[in-house]
Amino acid sequence: MERIRLCRIEEPKDGEPVAIAPGAYPPLAVYNVDGDYFVTDNTCTHGSALLTDGYQDGATIECPYHGGAFDIPSGAATTYPCQIALKTYPVTLEDGWITIDPPRSEA
Ligand code: FES
Repeated sequence: MERIRLCRIEEPKDGEPVAIAPGAYPPLAVYNVDGDYFVTDNTCTHGSALLTDGYQDGATIECPYHGGAFDIPSGAATTYPCQIALKTYPVTLEDGWITIDPPRSEA
């Protein structure tokens, strides 16, 4: 099973997440949190904002629209008005790429 390559590991800088649209998935955000890499859905669960247009502070991503925020590693909503957790994706580093597993149900 081929993993989906999202971007090179040097692309997301700490505090500067990268927006990816891999086709088989909804828009994704790739984060560097102090040298650890995480992938979440990029669309805020409160509205249609892209989180990569917001503000990363450590392990927190703040939405650009209404000041809501999420914990990046867990996807948990941490600041109102965000209440629904972000979907997160397990990351595998492979040959210098940040990858995730392809969607399971392809039928
Ligand atoms: S759209 Fe993100 S907090 Fe409202």
